Amino acid sequence: MVTASLGHREGASIFVFTIYPLPFTIYYLPLMTAPNIETIVSLAKRRGFVFPSSEIYGGLGSAWDYGPLGVELCNNVKQAWWRWMVYERDDIEGLDSSIILNRLVWKYSGHEDTFSDPLVDCRECKTRLRADKLEMADNVYAGIEVDQDDSQNFLEKITFAIRRKSYKCPNCGSTDLTDPRPFNLMFRTHVGAASEEDDSSLVYLRPETAQGIFINFANVLTTSRRKLPFGIAQIGKSFRNEVTPGNFIFRTREFEQMEMEYFVRPGEDESAHQDWIDACQNWFTSLGITSTNLRLYEQPKEELAHYAKRTVDIQYRFFPERPEDERQWDELMGIANRTDFDLRTHSKKPEDAEAKRLNPDSTDDLSYFDEAAKERFYPYVIEPAAGVNRTVLAVLMDAYTEKTNDKGEKRVILKLHPDLAPIKVAVLPLAKNKPEIVTLAKSIKQSLQPHLRAVYDDTGGIGKLYARQDEIGTPFCVTVDHESLQDDAVTVRDRDTWEQERIKVADLQEYLLKRLKT
Ligand code: GAP
Repeated sequence: MVTASLGHREGASIFVFTIYPLPFTIYYLPLMTAPNIETIVSLAKRRGFVFPSSEIYGGLGSAWDYGPLGVELCNNVKQAWWRWMVYERDDIEGLDSSIILNRLVWKYSGHEDTFSDPLVDCRECKTRLRADKLEMADNVYAGIEVDQDDSQNFLEKITFAIRRKSYKCPNCGSTDLTDPRPFNLMFRTHVGAASEEDDSSLVYLRPETAQGIFINFANVLTTSRRKLPFGIAQIGKSFRNEVTPGNFIFRTREFEQMEMEYFVRPGEDESAHQDWIDACQNWFTSLGITSTNLRLYEQPKEELAHYAKRTVDIQYRFFPERPEDERQWDELMGIANRTDFDLRTHSKKPEDAEAKRLNPDSTDDLSYFDEAAKERFYPYVIEPAAGVNRTVLAVLMDAYTEKTNDKGEKRVILKLHPDLAPIKVAVLPLAKNKPEIVTLAKSIKQSLQPHLRAVYDDTGGIGKLYARQDEIGTPFCVTVDHESLQDDAVTVRDRDTWEQERIKVADLQEYLLKRLKT
């Protein structure tokens, strides 16, 4: 005889099967991270984290707006990064440079010449494609595989292969594709009232925040009286006219970066690089991201940017639904050893073999004078560069949990790290038609607000209110009930365990602040 009963305990749904004469129990482990990005897209829209941009006019490809909870989450990610990077260390200064810089910055950084993707058009359906993402055609005899990592010959080889009909359009399957051509990813605009044809007014929206740091190296060095090693951190928007944006907020044309350039003596760069790789990995786990969902990816030589000696990416398992493990991962952050490329290229000093200045436009020399060693040189740079939006996506995916309640109903809990949770506490009246309870609940919310982000909500029954707060990641709910009017105490409910504790109103603030820090 087989009978089954349903129950639950913290963290797991339980089915107790009794197969006569021996009863045994199977624990169904709950869903501990989001099964795919789509789950987060739907939660984000439903609960007000992220909305498709310009939706009432049909949207704008890959642009997203951050709603009331999304903006708090982004701000909390940025604050956590800034606290860790700038406040908790003694060797980093902050900066906020312009988004629109002199065009010469992008000439000497190499972006005007090299910051491009190889673009291909499908003549059949007119889809624009990235040549390095093309699929092989089904006709195996036509197939010439092109080594994408061999970047020097990549364009030539892929042109040959496309002409041999070796690649197909992923949209319509046609092999009638144009030759690839480089497509520069920088957004162009014009400053002032000059005409759009006037080349002298051409500027770009920055594709990385890093260059604003390099061109301010001497300013920060002088005003902060720093000595090597030291770093400059910056958070801000960057823009890339991506050919194939997508996967929600993973790849967009407008996004935010958190970048830090750490300046060291040449020769000390390799150990500093390794230290930052370790530190960055630890930072992501300190935000609550599961370590098994993170991995390091050593960029092969052929993949390195023109300025990099070595780059290690921290990848997150953004695509857990894909069957092949290798395709589940993508970049969350890059940590590059940029050598002295940037400070050198923006300096007026360096000359070639014929004593010709390499940069005839710069008015400054960005070298460093080491007083102790009486030596002048260009510092090497280690650059941890993370995306705010990809970090937000990773923490949302990682925090996503499903749990079954006593009634067998599925509940979503967003187990966000308390530092990242958009709302820290929700104050809920058990009876919204009882003025004394409502007044007490509102006054508790007001008293907590200066110390932590608190909200008051009476728009549903208590079960519904708890479920809503669980789904947006609020660590604590405070319930004011009839008894509160007698005993000056409230019920505090824990998001993750659903355990409840009775706490005196007078002790509530201290209790919550302590619990949020543990
Ligand atoms: N200064 C170096 C630099 O910009 P990157 O690897 O191109 O390096 C750093 O960018 C980080 O910025 C990436 O790891 C990613 O998190 C984020 N990022 C880059 N392009 C992005 C895009 N189109 N959409 C969203 N985030 C992006």
